[in-house]
Amino acid sequence: MSADHWQKVYSSKKADQVSWYQSEPEVSLRLTKTNASFADAIIDVGAGQSSLVDRLVQDGYSDVTVLDISDSAVEEIRNRLDGASKFVSFVVADVSNWRPTQTFDFWHDRAVFHFLTSTSDIDAYLSVVSQAVRRGGVAVIGTFAEDGPTQCSGLDVSRYSPKNLVSLFSEYFEFEASELEKHVTPAGAVQHFTWVTLRRK
Ligand SMILES: C[S@@+](CC[C@H](N)C(=O)[O-])C[C@H]1O[C@@H](n2cnc3c(N)ncnc32)[C@H](O)[C@@H]1O
Repeated sequence: MSADHWQKVYSSKKADQVSWYQSEPEVSLRLTKTNASFADAIIDVGAGQSSLVDRLVQDGYSDVTVLDISDSAVEEIRNRLDGASKFVSFVVADVSNWRPTQTFDFWHDRAVFHFLTSTSDIDAYLSVVSQAVRRGGVAVIGTFAEDGPTQCSGLDVSRYSPKNLVSLFSEYFEFEASELEKHVTPAGAVQHFTWVTLRRK
């Protein structure tokens, strides 16, 4: 996956014009609040321009990291947060070859893991998430479901059932919960998502 692709997306479209836009990141917020306390170290990987971080900081979370391959997306969040950015760390990186310098209590990924389509990229991501999440910590992963779209943003994606997702992560994570979501895009299309909550062994 190229940083150039995502840079072009974020420089040519407004935040609410992309298919993954949500005015309210309902599932992400609920799963974060269920699994992380205010002092926990939280990371949103492939955060894009999602308002999840704004909502978490507003609600009292004080140690949030946003990571994205696009520096335009990260800068948009930094500018938007203004003074609240003191509670947030910003990382521009490809998650698959990122070297985390701390561990996290909670890892959130909405619509990023499914862009990894090669075994080597998937294995690299699994290695990163297993190093980044402390033992006993939680990873929440949201991907297109088995009957979800085959592409997003012009890129091929992998699609997952809860069982397949859990199986891929099973060397490092135990299953906690799963759910299906029907995301409605700004254009009115319905996209099915699989969400899993996993606990680091
Ligand atoms: C479909 S968007 C989802 C954005 C956000 N999670 C949300 O729910 O609104 C995918 C995001 O992942 C980022 N991304 C894609 N590949 C990445 C990678 N290898 N490492 C880090 N970020 C990546 C893109 O820049 C983009 O912001």
